[in-house]
Amino acid sequence: MNHRPPINPGRHNPMIHERLGHPNLGLGVGLRTVHFPYILEHHPPVDWFEIISENFMDSGGRPRYVLDQIAERYPIVMHGVSLSIGSTDRLDFEYLEKLKRLAEGVKARWVSDHLCWTGVAGRNTHDLLPIPLNEQSLAHVVERIRVVQDYLGRPLVLENPSSYVTFADSTMPEWEFLARMAEEAGCGLLLDVNNVYVSSVNHDFDPVEYIRGVPHHRVVQCHLAGHTNCRTHLIDTHDGAVIDPVWELYRLAHGLTGGVSTLLEWDARIPPFPIVHAEVLRARDYMAAGLRTSADSDHKAAACEPEDGSSVPHPLAHTVVEVA
Ligand SMILES: [Fe+2]
Repeated sequence: MNHRPPINPGRHNPMIHERLGHPNLGLGVGLRTVHFPYILEHHPPVDWFEIISENFMDSGGRPRYVLDQIAERYPIVMHGVSLSIGSTDRLDFEYLEKLKRLAEGVKARWVSDHLCWTGVAGRNTHDLLPIPLNEQSLAHVVERIRVVQDYLGRPLVLENPSSYVTFADSTMPEWEFLARMAEEAGCGLLLDVNNVYVSSVNHDFDPVEYIRGVPHHRVVQCHLAGHTNCRTHLIDTHDGAVIDPVWELYRLAHGLTGGVSTLLEWDARIPPFPIVHAEVLRARDYMAAGLRTSADSDHKAAACEPEDGSSVPHPLAHTVVEVA
């Protein structure tokens, strides 16, 4: 574990707009096809929706028709899973062109993806794989972010992944990597509070130090989600409610960022829309003044294992299915 003090470069630089100038959209929900009928019929009072970019990039037909209707009523944010910014493969400009066209078509407020790689040598693993965190990988990622931003004509927003392995070649903690990456590339950050918690348990680091260490003025958005406790490790399954320790980390993040667009991801065993919406609205309970740190909170996840004892699904398995 690295015990260097957390850094927060640029925090007091008045030239950098908070959240890259993006507004706080409020409390949003990840748009999933099972909820299409409910949303079209009831127009629920949700603040905004986030779409999985790949689910709409190649699809016309009904999915795009529905999305266009929803985009007329709600702000849309795009969240991708295939950019593979950390890979050594060349950037896929065909993919970027589709991404750009979709962003223009739905008037996406911003476009996000993950700090990860998804494949190499032209093979897509359909997984969000972690990268070594060192000077060489930082320079590699920063250069690629700059190219992508130039092509898209807008800043990219990158999310901290959940991870299950670390690399002997890593020389800095993830929050320091994110801070330097954001400052050097001029990109935004999507702070997935659940991912911070999942990785903190899997790799035995302090999630509070992580949340304090990211550059808060660069955080454009937060993610919340449930996960699965496998006793020896946690898996980011997005298959249930947010547990209390994650809410406490969110309280801390909310206070440090001053409040940013917040979205709940629910990708497996998805309940009816009102239940998903009610879960994200619980965030209001954690926005109250009087920050409590979770430094002394129980870092062990509440048990949330699959009730049927089945194997644990990966969240990406559910997003890929919808690409058709
Ligand atoms: Fe996320």
